[in-house]
Amino acid sequence: MNTNKITIAIDGFSSTGKSTVAKQLAKHLGYIYVDSGAMYRAVTFYAMTNDFIDEDFFNVSGLISQLDDIKIRFVFNENLGFAEVYLNDTNIEREIRTLKVSGFVSKVAEISEVRSLLVKQQQQMGVNKGVVMDGRDIGTVVFTDAELKLFMTASAETRATRRFNELLERGDNVQYEDVLRNVEERDYIDTHREDSPLVMAEDAIKIDNSTLGIKAQFDIILDLVNKTLKKEKPSKK
Ligand code: CDP
Repeated sequence: MNTNKITIAIDGFSSTGKSTVAKQLAKHLGYIYVDSGAMYRAVTFYAMTNDFIDEDFFNVSGLISQLDDIKIRFVFNENLGFAEVYLNDTNIEREIRTLKVSGFVSKVAEISEVRSLLVKQQQQMGVNKGVVMDGRDIGTVVFTDAELKLFMTASAETRATRRFNELLERGDNVQYEDVLRNVEERDYIDTHREDSPLVMAEDAIKIDNSTLGIKAQFDIILDLVNKTLKKEKPSKK
């Protein structure tokens, strides 16, 4: 058995199935899975519940002044098989997935102070390798030396349909057009921001999963992981 652990960085646009494959890989490999987007969503939820952001205003300096009060933790839930997000000891896993949070999160993620705080925490989580992390800047900023970097894409319509179905399954009352608009808006902000924009790392492998099912995608990616693990042997110090 290969005991040599690697770091797997998965970046890409919204709703490209990053977290689905990241969870599958973490389970299969016995690695830690970190959903970095959940951390940006947690800060956004904090900003919303403390009246720093709404449709018509964003008190950026107010939020920055309270960043030290925001403690984010991941707690593994045996029943669900993945880690849920806690904000200052409250489980907010459900609250952070609403379309309302999605509507503000990219604006919060533009703030450099927020990014540097979360990036430091993410790097700490991956210090011993054996981690699968997904997000927008994992291969380009957080783990530039990750042994395997993936960049996931799919058409905006495919992605919006996936997210729309996810939200309906949760019982959220949403319109497809609003979900599509949110996906496109976040794509724009995430790729155009000054600090750590979403770009494909030069050494990343692009996976377009517009026509790939969950199993087919997992098989392709697991093959890439196994090839990377083979290359990494014998263990580097
Ligand atoms: O799951 P979904 O693809 O909708 O997005 P997410 O991974 O939950 O990320 C939500 C938002 O957080 C993104 O649209 C980005 O604005 C921001 N984000 C980021 O800036 N950097 C990351 N590493 C992860 C997320």
